[in-house]
Amino acid sequence: MIIEKIPTHVAIIMDGNGRWARSKGLPRTEGHKAGTEVAEKTIRWAYELGIKYLTLYTFSTENWKRPREEVNFLFDLFADFVTRKIPEVKKEGVRLRFIGRLEQLPEKVLKVCKVAEEETKGNSNINVQVALNYGGRAELCDTISRIIEDFKKGKVDLPITEETVSKYLYTADIPDPDLIVRTANEKRLSNFLIWQAAYAEYYFVDKFWPDFSKEDLVAAVEEYNKRIRKFGAVIENE
Ligand code: IPE
Ligand code: IPE
Ligand code: MG
Repeated sequence: MIIEKIPTHVAIIMDGNGRWARSKGLPRTEGHKAGTEVAEKTIRWAYELGIKYLTLYTFSTENWKRPREEVNFLFDLFADFVTRKIPEVKKEGVRLRFIGRLEQLPEKVLKVCKVAEEETKGNSNINVQVALNYGGRAELCDTISRIIEDFKKGKVDLPITEETVSKYLYTADIPDPDLIVRTANEKRLSNFLIWQAAYAEYYFVDKFWPDFSKEDLVAAVEEYNKRIRKFGAVIENE
């Protein structure tokens, strides 16, 4: 199939690391390690396909409910991985940004995020947003608080418009996702980009995240090409 439309923004809910590990008789941590490698490859595949924005759901505001050891492992893995990869990411022209309640992250992780953003801010081959301690509801609460602060300073007018809300989100200058992919055959959003996903197309993969491949990403984009996006309107000759 010839792909005519490449989605500008693909967002992925990378799910199933734990089950992947369990299916192999391994500890969950091995699933997270394997999942991290696939996340790195996915950035390359997305770039090869011409996707300009890729958002990866990495840790949710609800994931703190997991055992302390798993949470610590995830943050250590993330910090080490990003620190190691910064030079290559920089060289490959990847712009890395982090969205979520970053100030609540362990000091070490926050520092790595800041360095990665700073080092890659001039890049534009592909924009990669890492959703870390991200929750869509938390984002809306933060957005509302910031709008009210600016309203008090006379910088915001009533009524609040959709454009105003979008401008105050973590994703202010990032287009809304066109395509949301979720692995591990779960069919829910789990608090991911709830405002931004209003008109996204969804694609579900019946594989655990560490088994996700370039073919799966291509299949998602091919399926996206078959979708007719109407945004509430009537399409002639449908
Ligand atoms: C996704 O895999 C990674 C994170 C949410 C951090 P999971 O860890 O959720 O894997 P399952 O869903 O338990 O298999
Ligand atoms: C969503 O996966 C969060 C990430 C992939 C980071 P979860 O595994 O946390 O979602 P639920 O609990 O199955 O909804
Ligand atoms: Mg999960």
